[in-house]
Amino acid sequence: MMSKSRNQSEPPVAGRTPAPRNHHFRGSLGRFATGVAIVTFDGATKRHGITVNSFTSVSMEPPLVLVSIARSTKAHDELAGRPFTVNILGAEQRELAMHFAGRPGPDPVWVEGRTAPRLSGVLAYFECTPWAAYDGGDHTLYVGEVADFDYRNGDALAFANSSFTTIPESQLGMEELL
Ligand SMILES: Cc1cc2nc3c(=O)[nH]c(=O)nc-3n(C[C@H](O)[C@H](O)[C@H](O)COP(=O)(O)O)c2cc1C
Repeated sequence: MMSKSRNQSEPPVAGRTPAPRNHHFRGSLGRFATGVAIVTFDGATKRHGITVNSFTSVSMEPPLVLVSIARSTKAHDELAGRPFTVNILGAEQRELAMHFAGRPGPDPVWVEGRTAPRLSGVLAYFECTPWAAYDGGDHTLYVGEVADFDYRNGDALAFANSSFTTIPESQLGMEELL
């Protein structure tokens, strides 16, 4: 017999507060391993960067990518209608990930991209013009049309179970299989 998921098989627990449920929801989401990226852009008065793991490829033609940004962040309102870069991090860039997640470290090295500012030395980048923004509850889903992109060789930084980890570079890419 197929096992039911935890929530289907168990009746609601009386008195369970929303906080442990949120914690459990986060824990469940954390079992999905992702890469780590930083969204960078020029706002009205300052340059922004925010670490995300919500990056998703959306479309090949036109080339579209998506990031989900919490409404509570400083970047949220400013990103609307602005070009941005998604910087995909290499394994050695954990400090950079933390820098743009509220734990400032050494000043990052910037590159003036053609569409939006980006970070030096990242594993890959996608410079985007704004395509659409969708309501995503307490987040907004920002979709960008990729105007410029590139990548380098190297291991990838990954995030799973609330920890950073490394995904070794494979010997051969599999782009031709996709
Ligand atoms: C690995 C990792 C992934 C994250 N992913 C996201 C994300 O996808 N969307 C988001 O809004 N915040 C995400 N965050 C949290 C933001 O980076 C963090 O809230 C940021 O510091 C907010 O900036 P602010 O304090 O200047 O508003 C992530 C943080 C980490 C460490």
